[in-house]
Formats: sequence, C-alpha cells, structure tokens
Amino acid sequence: MSSDLGYANLAHTVPLWQQVRPDFPVTERLIYLNHAAVAPLVRPASDRMRWLAEDACLHGSLHFDEWLAAYESLRTAAAQLIGAHRDEIALVKNTSEGISTVALGLDWKSGDRIVAFREEFPANMYPWQRLAPRGVAIDWLSIYDPLDAIDRAARGAKLLAISYVNYLSGHRVDLNAIGEICHRHGVFFFVDAIQGLGVFPLDVQKAHIGALAADGHKWLLGPEGCGILYLRREWLDRIEPVEFGWTNVAGFADYASRDLTLRRDAARYECGTLNTIGIFGLEASMRYLLMTGIERVGEAVLALSAQLIAGARSLGYEVLGENHPNTRSGIVTIRREGTDSRLLVSRLKDAGIIAAPRQGYVRLSPHFYIAPEEIAQVLEQLSEPPLGRAVTTI
Ligand SMILES: Cc1ncc(COP(=O)(O)O)c(C=O)c1O
Repeated sequence: MSSDLGYANLAHTVPLWQQVRPDFPVTERLIYLNHAAVAPLVRPASDRMRWLAEDACLHGSLHFDEWLAAYESLRTAAAQLIGAHRDEIALVKNTSEGISTVALGLDWKSGDRIVAFREEFPANMYPWQRLAPRGVAIDWLSIYDPLDAIDRAARGAKLLAISYVNYLSGHRVDLNAIGEICHRHGVFFFVDAIQGLGVFPLDVQKAHIGALAADGHKWLLGPEGCGILYLRREWLDRIEPVEFGWTNVAGFADYASRDLTLRRDAARYECGTLNTIGIFGLEASMRYLLMTGIERVGEAVLALSAQLIAGARSLGYEVLGENHPNTRSGIVTIRREGTDSRLLVSRLKDAGIIAAPRQGYVRLSPHFYIAPEEIAQVLEQLSEPPLGRAVTTI
C-alpha cells in the first residue's frame, strides 16, 4: 500500500479528510458525491491494480503466488471487517451473485415464507420473487415499520432479507435489533450490505446474520465486479452451491481428480477463475479502510450528511426519509418543488459536482474524504434558482 497515514502524529491536529486527501486524487478535479453509485478508486487500490496489470503484461502468471496471497488477504480483511472467520468468506463477482447463491441454494419447500421490504433495490427483491414457482411466498413490509411489525412478520418465516442502508433514502436499519428478532424466531437473516459496508460498523455475530453480500465498488472504494459473500459456517452444508465449476471442489488443484467433494470453506461457492485484478483492488481498498478505522470513517460521513441535510432544508428542499441520527447514512436525497432533478444534476456536473438523479430526486452521497467546505460549495450551487423550464417533479 502506498500510503502511510501517520495518524499517531496527526490525529489531534488535522481533520481526517485532510490527512487522507492525497489518497483521493479525484478531489483535484471533482467534488464527488456519488459513492452510492460507483466510487472513485482510492489510490492504493488503483496502484495495486496497475501493478498487477503491468506484472501480468511482463510475466503472465509467473507470480501466481502473489495472486493466491491477494485472495487470502481479501478473505481475511473481509472477515475482519464484519467479525467473521475467513472460512466464511466467498469471493463473488457482485452483490447479486451473492444474493442468488443464497436464494437458489437454500432448501425451499412449498409454503415457506420470506419477509422482504418494499423500498429495496431490485437486487435484493428479484432473487426472492423468483422463488414463487417453488411455492415460496413473500410478506412485504416497509423499512420504516417499527420493530414489532417485523417481529410479527418474522414468526414462522424462513428468511428475512433487508439492506443495511437503503439505496434511495439512505435509511440505515438497526441490524442488531432485526437480527435479534430473526434469531429468536429461527429465521435466516440475510443482509445486502453494499450501501453500508466500509462506512458503518457491522458485526455478523452480534447481528446474528446468516449471510451477507456486498460488491466493492461503492463505499468500499474498490473496483466493480468484485465482492464478498459471507455465509455463517453452520449453513455451509445447508446451502447448495448452484453455480458449479472446477474450483468448487476440495481437490480443484488436481485436474486429474474426479472427486466432487466440496471445499471445506465458503470458497465452495466460487465457480471457476477469480477476478484477480478486482481482488487486488478490493483487497487494497478494504485494508485501507480498516487501517483508517471504520468508526472514524462513519463519524466523518455522518457529519457531512448532517451538514447536507440542514443546508438543503434551509434552502427549501425536501429531504427523503426520516433522517434520524441513528438511522442516517452517507446518502442524502433531496428535491424541491419546481426544480427538475435531472437539470439540477447536470448543472452540478457542470460545476464539477457529481451527484445522481434518482426517481425524481437528487441523491448526494459523500464519503469521508470530502471537506465540509466542499459541502458548503455544493449548497451554494443548490441555492441557485432552477435552470431551464420548471418541471414539476414526482
Ligand atoms: C442495495 C443495493 N444492492 C445491490 C446493488 C448492486 O448490486 P450488484 O453489486 O449486484 O451490481 C446496489 C447498487 O446500486 C444497491 O444499492
């Protein structure tokens, strides 16, 4: 890793965003508030990926040992990040593959019931809905429902699936409380963690999580197409690997073997050659965040989102969701009567500010390296009268 943050000396004098700034060259050109979509790579991730590209160009697979070391290091980093064991981590190509692995691999029976949530991103809906032909029903709740509604719905259910942080409103659920309910009722607890992992602490033991999936390209500051799937150890023998190839089996290194015995760990869900360059990137970005400290990252992100919410409200914007300090995240989603969100996003872009139009709103998602002064600049842009023809938003 290229950066030595030297926190011991700086911690009390220089704000965190300023300490880490050299690791985010994107800040030289843009105010990047789109981590809920695709993050810029943190410098060490980009360095590692460039190193691999060059090494593979010059030497092919000669340094394969380094590839194996990167795979192992990503497994242990991911385990550390969520309080798991490296045996419980599979390397996957995205969140959806992780979710599908669980949805397709569980032993469903006609009459089984799932608790799911209306506001979810499709990745955490469609795989469960596709189980309908097997006789699996879904109880739809809202992520804003009180815990006792979740408690009632969970009774007798087989699985509950929710996102740590909602992709649109940024609502962050209390995983420990929902996990306790699932544990008490014997419900398998699945978490789509992509909008929270890397920013907020997450402990799979404390939250009684059965499985969790997240790609690395958002808050983890890694590349696209490389993610993790956590599967609690006791479920490994109860979730069938559905995607199957030569690497799911214990003897995969012996090509003459015809033994189908599965690998003993969660790597049994890995089907074929891995995304080595992606793994190099994600390993570096995850270790970077671990070294920085997730608590400190989360505090910085919450301070930025609080600043955005207060500023946007004072400018007459409606802020989507509850925005209670305990349920807030790095996502702030706003709209204003008479302001077309697409026009606004494009005007922000002209000013070098990257945000996303989402369902009639503007979604802003700053990570911890953004300066409070930059949020002030964004608010200044938001205060400008609407550009072009006024269009009523939904
Ligand atoms: C909650 C949630 N889940 C999943 C994804 C993406 O899934 P995948 O990693 O499969 O592309 C997103 C992306 O916006 C998301 O917000």
